[in-house]
Amino acid sequence: MKSPNRIKSKKKSLFRRKYHIDKNGRNDFDKYFLPIDYLKHYYCEVDINFIKEYITDGSILDKPLTGIGQENAALLIFYADIVLPLLKREKKKYRVLLDVGSGATVYQFISLATVIDSIYFTDYLDCNLKSVKNWKRGKDDFWHEYIRGVLILEKRKPDIEKKEILQRERLIKGKLKHFGIYDAIKDKMETDISDKKFDIVSSNFCIESITDQKKIWFSAFNNLTGRLKQRGRIIIMSLRGASGYPVSGKVLPAVEIYECDLMDLMKKGFRDIIMKSIDCESKNKYQGIIFVTAVKK
Ligand SMILES: C[S@@+](CC[C@H](N)C(=O)[O-])C[C@H]1O[C@@H](n2cnc3c(N)ncnc32)[C@H](O)[C@@H]1O
Repeated sequence: MKSPNRIKSKKKSLFRRKYHIDKNGRNDFDKYFLPIDYLKHYYCEVDINFIKEYITDGSILDKPLTGIGQENAALLIFYADIVLPLLKREKKKYRVLLDVGSGATVYQFISLATVIDSIYFTDYLDCNLKSVKNWKRGKDDFWHEYIRGVLILEKRKPDIEKKEILQRERLIKGKLKHFGIYDAIKDKMETDISDKKFDIVSSNFCIESITDQKKIWFSAFNNLTGRLKQRGRIIIMSLRGASGYPVSGKVLPAVEIYECDLMDLMKKGFRDIIMKSIDCESKNKYQGIIFVTAVKK
């Protein structure tokens, strides 16, 4: 993984485009975001061979990634190889995690489930919460290959048995204890935890992927950090240089941000900042992915 290259786009940004909210208060997500379409488009594959190659040669993450399967493998690598060892070193016994804009995904908890006590799974859309509640209740094997990938990374062995996958899946399901609607722009929580602060706040592809206006991205970032306890850990994954992203045949808004934008925000209230980024060559409308984790001062 490359360290942050402080590139700033010379292109004029697209912030002039308005984030569309209709007269009934519905934004583009209410109308166009279907969990099933989103999962099919962005999480249909994870490249297990890429993970196996990474174990023998970590430098493969320095080359541009050529498809969504490799990108998803990189997300798992970030959690298993960077975030998990940091949390283990901190040796805290009891941790509560708030995940913001969780969508209908659970890959972000596969490693974390081993070191946290409970997860508040939140999103703006109820259909996403329902989708993951159904996964929790059912026998859907959608995430099994992702769990296999994480176990290969954690155990540094190429072959993982089905029972190991099922065991980790049960662990994740057990940690998913709370579900609620949370609007990161308005900082409005629909549950009884409106004034709660968390040990870990994580948010992937959310705050830069729900607006095309930088000032909204900025205030959503502040809302996330406001939910974090002092000395709590933030974990963010973000699209780099995005101009939008397709879901269900519609291009949803995104803010065009770069490493330096994120670093400027992080430096104000965080220490021990770790930032990595990868270049992506897939046909989607972003140039790369930025990973960041840090501790609130
Ligand atoms: C690009 S998806 C990211 C989903 C998931 N975190 C992932 O890693 O793929 C953006 C998510 O943000 C949610 N969202 C949209 N507006 C939001 C808001 N105002 N506050 C919180 N989440 C929002 C959407 O419903 C969607 O699930």
